[in-house]
Amino acid sequence: MTTETAVAQATLEIRGLRVTVEKKEILRGIDLTVRQGETHALMGPNGSGKSTLANVLLGRPGYLVTAGEIRFRDEDVLPLSPDKRAHRGLFLAFQYPTEVPGVSVVNFLRTAYQAVKGEQLSALAFRKHMKQKMALLGIDDTMVNRYVNQGFSGGEKKKNEVLQLAVLEPEIAILDETDSGLDIDSLKAVAEGLDQLRGPGLGMLIITHYQRILDYITPDFVHVMLEGRIVKSGGPEIAHELEQKGYEGLRQELGLEADGAGRAGPAGGE
Ligand SMILES: Nc1ncnc2c1ncn2[C@@H]1O[C@H](COP(=O)(O)OP(=O)(O)O)[C@@H](O)[C@H]1O
Ligand SMILES: [Mg+2]
Repeated sequence: MTTETAVAQATLEIRGLRVTVEKKEILRGIDLTVRQGETHALMGPNGSGKSTLANVLLGRPGYLVTAGEIRFRDEDVLPLSPDKRAHRGLFLAFQYPTEVPGVSVVNFLRTAYQAVKGEQLSALAFRKHMKQKMALLGIDDTMVNRYVNQGFSGGEKKKNEVLQLAVLEPEIAILDETDSGLDIDSLKAVAEGLDQLRGPGLGMLIITHYQRILDYITPDFVHVMLEGRIVKSGGPEIAHELEQKGYEGLRQELGLEADGAGRAGPAGGE
């Protein structure tokens, strides 16, 4: 075996995953594989279990895995702490503290970088690294010199989160509802930022209720989740199909019972 094959593409594999929250089964057998270099969108109505999946991947407490497994780089992820997962290159997206008074964005990111990469960088070297990413994303100096999230608009917070992703250079990133609450200009800026970061080194799982972010970033794969199961997977055309028929239409097409409780909803609109 050569060194090249040994340093394989990092892969996140979810197999037969079942998760219970407060005695209620929320994920009912999820199979999903995300490879470095691929962009996946996971869509589904409110309450279908998207955030539950993100939280389990991140290692948040309060979720009971009753069956199945999560493997990253062929290693069982479940026993690992969130920090260890980040250290392995799994991006624990957007677990940003809401506000950090007295800590500038640049210092926050430098601390995060050192924690994740386990590598000390001089302030100068880090600034250089960050400047490259800022140029790529069209982010200016004033923002990174401000205190983390203090007085940031919704759009600025999300931009900052994309910068965090760019700076930390994970192999797989999970982005839960990056688009929620953004006006159209901010949404476009964030989606274009994510699009800039695409490349062979980064795999992304973009979780969203709405189709609209996918107007600016075309995923390689789209998966639809209903009631804790992925009921359909395919290419970007699935998102457009969904925009037309809505989740309810898909449910009917698949012969699934509507289970009420406000779970159903159209894929588009607010
Ligand atoms: N911490 C929790 N405690 C109780 N119920 C929860 C918790 N997290 C999620 N749920 C329930 O799990 C279901 C799926 O929620 P969630 O994963 O947030 O869906 P989505 O992100 O697709 O909107 C919902 O019925 C929700 O009420
Ligand atoms: Mg959610």
